[in-house]
Amino acid sequence: MTRGALKIATIGGGSSYTPELIEGYIKRKDELPIKEIWLVDIEAGKEKLEIVGAMAKRMIKAAGLDWEVHLTLDREAALKGADFVSTQFRVGLLDARIKDERIPLSHGVLGQETNGAGGMFKAFRTIPVILAIIDDMKRLCPDAWLVNFTNPAGMVTEAAIKHGGWKKTVGLCNVPIGHRKQAAEMLGIPEEDLFFKFAGINHFHWHRVWDKEGQERTQELIDLIYGPKQEQENHLKNIFDAPFHYEQLKDLGMLPCGYHRYYYIEDEMLKHSIEEYERGETRAQVVKETEGRLFELYKDPKLDYKPKELEERGGTHYSDAACEMIASIYNDKRTDMVVSTENNGTITDLPYDCVVEVSGPVTAHGHEPYNWGAFPPAARGIIQNMK
Ligand code: G6P
Repeated sequence: MTRGALKIATIGGGSSYTPELIEGYIKRKDELPIKEIWLVDIEAGKEKLEIVGAMAKRMIKAAGLDWEVHLTLDREAALKGADFVSTQFRVGLLDARIKDERIPLSHGVLGQETNGAGGMFKAFRTIPVILAIIDDMKRLCPDAWLVNFTNPAGMVTEAAIKHGGWKKTVGLCNVPIGHRKQAAEMLGIPEEDLFFKFAGINHFHWHRVWDKEGQERTQELIDLIYGPKQEQENHLKNIFDAPFHYEQLKDLGMLPCGYHRYYYIEDEMLKHSIEEYERGETRAQVVKETEGRLFELYKDPKLDYKPKELEERGGTHYSDAACEMIASIYNDKRTDMVVSTENNGTITDLPYDCVVEVSGPVTAHGHEPYNWGAFPPAARGIIQNMK
């Protein structure tokens, strides 16, 4: 890896999330000696790339940094000699996500960006593209790390590692970050004084929490978050927060992620999704409008910081995953992170060579998962079925 002059390429650079990413790099300016940031997109994303790219340049200038920002439709130029490649692209843009959601719902089954039939459609469209990117990387930046954020992140990461053969792939998601913050807030304990273990697959993982004294606090959190008083519910903007069955979670002894709703309380979620479908308001349809508003804001030549409105999207804290991952690899920081990575026996209920989403420190060599072992029987079947 280049020491002292990093080149970072982001595929899908025209995404409305790019200011989030830039903010994350700026926050870590003392740990990341960035020289060049290359934002790449395709012809259909050119206008967005130009708008958000200009905004990225303003943010960097306002931070007093001399990083070069290159906006390009030439993926090869962006990949050449890159140290890190991050991916945040959406094949077919938001219109394809609208179909992912609406087609299954028109048949009365779950239509969601990453779960059920919609997630499958997205995987079928996206996997050939990630494999083509890896083919380019093999020629142009054979030592680079691939930081994948593209959904369905678990499946795309598995394709990259298992079928693309790119072992230096880490799959990321913002959901665990939200859970960590939620636990700290609910327990009134700083996040750094808590220890978390997450395990499962992307958008289908559970977690357990311990304090500094080694006391497990999971059951207490289940009571606080999902108990009769329901002090706080779902923290994800993109998932309808129908309540979980408290007794089920108590019995399970693990905290679910928001996406478990689509399976644990399937009827309520499906009913709600079908209502949204009938009103023409599936999540992608809503997001398309939000995105239009965001790009109007981004056009303002005076805007040089991430606007609050970006928090309306489900991907908040995205940069705390992506940029921290890069900083932790580069500096061998051993930041405790939740990563989609090769199982290698971490979860004994799943095959060795599949990709799982688990906790562990991120070192200069990548992610080193903590052992998880076996799931209780009430979770084993469903995780195997999902995989
Ligand atoms: C969550 C997930 C992301 C997903 C996002 C959707 O944060 O972790 O994988 O892309 O929500 O948010 P959106 O605003 O696009 O519905």
